[in-house]
Amino acid sequence: MKSTASAPGKVILVGEHFVVGGTPAVALAINLRARATVQPREDRAITIYSKELRIREKFSEEEVNKKSPLYPIYIAANLARRYISLGKGLDITITSELPPAAGMGSSAAVSVATAAAIIALKKKVSRAVVSQIAFEAEKIVHGKPSGIDNTISTYGGAILYIKDKGFTRINPKLKNVALVLADTGIPRSTGEMVAKVRKLKARYSSVLDPIYKSAEVLACEVAKALEMGDVKTVGELMNINHGLLSAVGVSIAKLEELVYTARNAGALGAKITGAGGGGLIVALCYKRDLKRVKSALAKVAKKVYTAGVSKRGVMVERKLFSFNF
Ligand code: MEV
Repeated sequence: MKSTASAPGKVILVGEHFVVGGTPAVALAINLRARATVQPREDRAITIYSKELRIREKFSEEEVNKKSPLYPIYIAANLARRYISLGKGLDITITSELPPAAGMGSSAAVSVATAAAIIALKKKVSRAVVSQIAFEAEKIVHGKPSGIDNTISTYGGAILYIKDKGFTRINPKLKNVALVLADTGIPRSTGEMVAKVRKLKARYSSVLDPIYKSAEVLACEVAKALEMGDVKTVGELMNINHGLLSAVGVSIAKLEELVYTARNAGALGAKITGAGGGGLIVALCYKRDLKRVKSALAKVAKKVYTAGVSKRGVMVERKLFSFNF
């Protein structure tokens, strides 16, 4: 038997980093997905092949390479295998439309898809279980994540997320607008960026506390504005959020260049999305301005994407039974 599941990447519209400290953040699932195909094998080993990274790794009972970039996927796979009491090993193939280490939630989407594909071999897929398993893998990738990436990838749509409390769904009215993502091409480690902000917060807590408070109010206002279709307010608040992220030290010159290029080309708002230090910016613009914003960004970014919101979170796509005659 073979099964395939997919899960979407994400854009954090506002609230990244501050969410790690307990303030709310707004995330949207996007229409770029990661996919995992799994097939049980006779021994107990787990082999993982990532088509995009062009890496194949075998994790056996005797030998587990904890330094492998595929190790977090192994953790997710092993937890999912235990959950369904599967006494066999697994061959896993990963494909992904999401650039790795850029801020689109690629690691979470891969873990979510892997966990779901494995669970589907024997059980009905519980989204709470899938999200929890992916969260365990995320802790290995990012150190102390908030849980927003695995949650949005599992549940899809748009959410207002609060660490340790969960999420509420948002129904965004984004009719005449588009989201543009532009990649600096500079990879970075989310875990390192989160640790950097945590250190700054510990050192200057009385200075940074009001910034966190501001981020909290801002995320709630964005959630309201999204539901009302007030895209001008969303854009302005994205710009303010970018300022707050610069204040906590996660911007770099290239990110500023992309943000200002998008704004100068007519975007309603533009900001870092994800951990910063490299990675991506997100810009919100009217559809009529999309071409202008994209072509301006294309001149200075490594890659430019238009992202649609995906209502669909994790999905089991295929279950194939093979019979031996
Ligand atoms: C990463 O996508 C978002 C951060 O806020 C980290 C996290 O929430 O775990 C930077």
